[in-house]
Amino acid sequence: MTDKKTPHSLPLSEAISIAAQAIGEVMSGRSLTEVLDQLEPHERPIVQSLSFDALRKWVRSHELIKQFVPKSPPPEVDHLLSVAIALFLNENADGKGYAAHTIVDQAVSACANYDKTMYAKGLVNAVLRKVGLIVQPPEGEARFPPDPIPMFVPPWWRANLKRNYSKAWQSILFSQAKRAPLILRVNQKQYSREQYQALLNEVGIASSPIEEVAGVKLGSALLLSNPVPVSELPGFYSGAVSVQDAGAQLAATLLNPGEGNRVLDACAAPGGKTAHILELADCEMVALELDGERLGKIGGNLDRLRLHSDRVRVIRGDASKASWWDGRLFDKILLDAPCSASGIVARHPDIPFLRREADIKSLQQKQRGILEQAWKMLKPDGLMLYVTCSVFPEEGEEQASWFAGEHSNAVRLGAPGQILPTDVSDGFYYALFKKNGP
Ligand SMILES: C[S@@+](CC[C@H](N)C(=O)[O-])C[C@H]1O[C@@H](n2cnc3c(N)ncnc32)[C@H](O)[C@@H]1O
Repeated sequence: MTDKKTPHSLPLSEAISIAAQAIGEVMSGRSLTEVLDQLEPHERPIVQSLSFDALRKWVRSHELIKQFVPKSPPPEVDHLLSVAIALFLNENADGKGYAAHTIVDQAVSACANYDKTMYAKGLVNAVLRKVGLIVQPPEGEARFPPDPIPMFVPPWWRANLKRNYSKAWQSILFSQAKRAPLILRVNQKQYSREQYQALLNEVGIASSPIEEVAGVKLGSALLLSNPVPVSELPGFYSGAVSVQDAGAQLAATLLNPGEGNRVLDACAAPGGKTAHILELADCEMVALELDGERLGKIGGNLDRLRLHSDRVRVIRGDASKASWWDGRLFDKILLDAPCSASGIVARHPDIPFLRREADIKSLQQKQRGILEQAWKMLKPDGLMLYVTCSVFPEEGEEQASWFAGEHSNAVRLGAPGQILPTDVSDGFYYALFKKNGP
């Protein structure tokens, strides 16, 4: 077995140490995205990969830690072990990766990088050698069976999935424990999907079109056979293409914007769906966002994609209130509501560690407040698309049924409803309403 050839400028031992500390931050309630954003550019890819994998393999790595360290180690040592064990488990899963001796050596060196793990070199060495024997057995011996459900979720989360998806709950967690593929959305203002695929071919990047998700045809989605940094994508910095999950590409497609439509994107940051709408039609767009920091990302995305115009306004405001509104009704409203994000765990494996059960009730209240206010801003015969990236029915079908029950002028049109995560799509919920009369 050879060591991984992926070029990176950070020694593995340093990356292990930083990833372990990043996991410590998640355990104390910080989002991993926020932690990773603070790293140097050369540190980020490898630390992200290590910390994501450690969170995805959490259940199995902790079974092993328990097996070999009967008295729980201090958190800093536990996190370092979980990062290193995930490296073994990935080797087990895909047959590629670091040699066992490299993982052990680098993890032991990583102990020296942080005063809280410095003393634990002997323990880490002993545990990882034993783990190596179980996970990477000598030639000819049976491999340890894969963990039945590698993805950690808290008990209330698991109970929710079991209650609502008695047959599918395990496969949901399995698909969320896999590394998410890189999916692109071709900017149709610049290239057709076929044209862009040809450009990718020219630079040796293999891709295939994703024709549909949940029965909805997609015109711009491309699945890369192997992920590459965005800097290697032709025309990325001049807006040829964006990274966006295929399930998320349903939003603009279902809203079906027409030329000149007045459109509200009520919860817009970082602007992925705002941009997709503008790629499909020259609309008069209001992109609204409550969070000032996230608001800036919308402008950045529209700049890169060359979608700014005097018909596009990016506004900071609360979609559950009317204080920001000029009183002019909208033809179409996209309501991509704040939610648990339980559908996008494959791309954000820290989410199950951060959510609390009580969050669901308070998110439901927020979603209802925004639904109520947005409906008042919609023209008669206008369309409103309600979206969440959640697999919990409390944020999906329950909300759509409640809304339809409250509004006799809300007609439900065809939309996929709950989409469970698959190999090319995260989990989403989509409901489409038409306003029948004022
Ligand atoms: C699911 S994200 C939107 C993702 C975005 N549509 C995209 O595709 O890039 C939900 C967004 O709603 C924002 N938000 C939360 N409460 C809001 C409110 N009351 N009014 C407006 N935006 C809100 C959050 O800050 C977050 O950026």
